[in-house]
Amino acid sequence: MSAVEEAKRTAAKVAVEKHYPKDARWVGIGSGSTIVYVVEAITNLGVDTSNTKYIPTGYQSKQLIVNAGLMAVEYDALPLGTVLDVAFDGADEVDEDLNCIKGGGACLFQEKIVALQAKEFICVADHRKLQPRLLTSWKSIPIEVAPIAAYRVIQKLKELGSINPAVRPSASVKEGPLKTDQDFFIVDAPFKPMLIKADIEAGQDGNGKDGVWAVEVLARKIKEIIGVLEVGIFHGQTGPQAAAAGGLGGQRPVA
Ligand code: A5P
Repeated sequence: MSAVEEAKRTAAKVAVEKHYPKDARWVGIGSGSTIVYVVEAITNLGVDTSNTKYIPTGYQSKQLIVNAGLMAVEYDALPLGTVLDVAFDGADEVDEDLNCIKGGGACLFQEKIVALQAKEFICVADHRKLQPRLLTSWKSIPIEVAPIAAYRVIQKLKELGSINPAVRPSASVKEGPLKTDQDFFIVDAPFKPMLIKADIEAGQDGNGKDGVWAVEVLARKIKEIIGVLEVGIFHGQTGPQAAAAGGLGGQRPVA
């Protein structure tokens, strides 16, 4: 196993051992390659999972749950008012305020609605993902967009200062744009690194002057564009309460 895979597995083990409630009834399971190790860590915990329902965030996630012998319940089948005990997911990048970029694997809408339904959202990220500001090493924001509005959304993103936003292609040129689990497109929108709270407190303007935005402000502006289903920025009010990081060389945990 490569060092990066070892780091993801370590982060997942640490996160699950620290944050999985032994008597959990409802657990959200995210998407991506790190979440594979989260499910592995849950099954290795040795707790009774027979009364626990796992809520997937997409096709891959549901397969993972089922293949691990756990019980999958679709988001829409949850009794109204159900609060998940915890939701685990990965991230593409995490900043010092624990805001995240998500959607690198083309899942983000379902990940966000599951995260919002959870008492605690645990973002499992290895050392490579932690950066001072979002869009430092990960260069663009994934946005889930209605195919019929993709061109207009791209124009609006340019007005907000995005440089060359583009519909994400699928692996095969012949098949055209990549489709999400909702049959929507992903638009990847490059922006300059986003400001964190400390920058704003130090007097920097996060309102898009020269294309520089505060995380919450840009997330709201993008979400307001007609045709946008969801934006791959998970920030304070709409997601992460905590994160766990681990792996190579004892990198510091995010929380
Ligand atoms: C899926 O679209 C994403 O939000 C993933 O959670 C994110 O890309 C992290 O994936 P990895 O664990 O594969 O890095």
